[in-house]
Amino acid sequence: MLHSPRPGSGWWRSGVIYQIYPRSFSDANGDGMGDLKGITQNLVKLSELGIDAVWLSPFYKSPQKDAGYDVADYRSVDPLFGNLTDFDELVAKAHELGIRVMIDLVPNHTSDQHEWFQKALAAGPGSKERSYYHFKSGRGENGELPPNNWQSMFGGPAWTRTPDGEWYVHLFDSSQPDLNWENPLVQREFEEILRFWLDRGVDGFRVDQPHAMGKAEGLPDHPYVDEAGAGFIEGRENPPMWFQDSVHEIFRSWRKILASYPGERAMCGEAYVLPLSFMALWVRPDEFHQTFNFRFLDAGWEKDRLVQAINESFEAFDAVGAPSTWVLNNHDVIRHASRFGGDYGRATASDGIGPENPQPDNKLGLRKAKAASLFMLGLPGASYLYQGEELGLPEHTTISPEHRQDPTFFRTAGKRVGRDGCRVPLPWVRGGLTNGFNQTDKAWLPQPAEYAELSRDVQEQSSESTLALYKSALRIRKELALGEGSFDWVSTTDLLSYRNGNVLVVHNFTGNEAPLPEGELLLRSGSGAFLAPDETVWVLSRT
Ligand code: GLC
Repeated sequence: MLHSPRPGSGWWRSGVIYQIYPRSFSDANGDGMGDLKGITQNLVKLSELGIDAVWLSPFYKSPQKDAGYDVADYRSVDPLFGNLTDFDELVAKAHELGIRVMIDLVPNHTSDQHEWFQKALAAGPGSKERSYYHFKSGRGENGELPPNNWQSMFGGPAWTRTPDGEWYVHLFDSSQPDLNWENPLVQREFEEILRFWLDRGVDGFRVDQPHAMGKAEGLPDHPYVDEAGAGFIEGRENPPMWFQDSVHEIFRSWRKILASYPGERAMCGEAYVLPLSFMALWVRPDEFHQTFNFRFLDAGWEKDRLVQAINESFEAFDAVGAPSTWVLNNHDVIRHASRFGGDYGRATASDGIGPENPQPDNKLGLRKAKAASLFMLGLPGASYLYQGEELGLPEHTTISPEHRQDPTFFRTAGKRVGRDGCRVPLPWVRGGLTNGFNQTDKAWLPQPAEYAELSRDVQEQSSESTLALYKSALRIRKELALGEGSFDWVSTTDLLSYRNGNVLVVHNFTGNEAPLPEGELLLRSGSGAFLAPDETVWVLSRT
């Protein structure tokens, strides 16, 4: 058996965690931007969906240069989203409904408006305040060249010069200076931030860019830097800005803090660490409880890559006793209902689809997306969902330049359109310009026309809807404890099938109709007398 059930507690081992992107979930005050009250009002809909936990993308005080991943105060709610009382109400309501709450922790960088950075700028070269960040003199005769060759993930150099001549490093936007995690003061600050939110009752953290926190001593050039960004190239040894060993001690200290609180608090690292055998080091029993499985997300919907990703996942995570996680969507990648409707491989997934690009076949994409989700939700381990995927929402691929917000768009002069297309406000009730996202028709990003028909209230009326499929999948998953189950391949041919306990899951990659597998039908992503191409089915079969 490739994976056997693992005794041990922890809701996070098998839970379904739903990512809320607060800007776009629901807008209670009608200003065009989602807010915490909007989330609280609609938590009951998530309870009906059957999820176990939510993860909230950042709602902290922020100039919103990177949609809140540029935090100016880690202990406050941005007025755009509400206030701390709203947050407390959200947590209370979620807990009342049996939903756990994870929040986003952004430790690699702050906003340039954070007081630590403002003080560092004011204090000048060589000061204690500057040691919170990575400031350096430039190269060239007058220090006019960046200190090294690092590139920002959003395009352009990863260095910006200050008026006094020093440079600071930012692996993302110039408004997101990287913190210096060698500095014990920075470490202390974050321990307190963790406690602040744990005291308020959060059940855990999704940790942003943990693989970026350590930097090689002296900040040397990246030997393999390429145009793709900050030089992330899988398999290349020891890039100076990623995966430094020094970070593990930090995660250990955080794990201890979480463990000192009652209940099962958990942290999930957005660790872009590959291969997975290397990532396993990050989920050792005293580090992260889990990390996102980007190997699975990046497999696209190609059989061989999928098989490999699943094999590697169980091998790597089981070796250290951590659950595997599974994920197909988040706020950084093209929505799967569009990604699978065209040739959008890993390289372009976070670059988005613009009006100039080949447009996806959303019908094909949705068919595959529903099947992929059903395939994923049958797997043992924890699964992450991204808001709107339960409605089968496609990417918004024709956003016009004046609506663009993602720094990637601006830092590449529009060459990479960026991630706005997956961040569009959700349609709740068909009608008007925002389909129930709010009552005012205002929206920070416009919805595409297709969203009207896909509104939640429309889908609630139909047993054939994508929403109905997700609800059934989550219900059966819970009833049969699939999240805590086992895994074995039955066939790795184009009729790809695996078994989790008594449940047989088959996906049809053959391109032709195939007979339905024997057994009691539990759920399928299509209909008809045969298993259609790109369809997934769950059957109960004891043999
Ligand atoms: C993570 C976030 C992404 C953000 C980046 C910088 O990858 O998911 O949205 O832009 O970190 O914080």
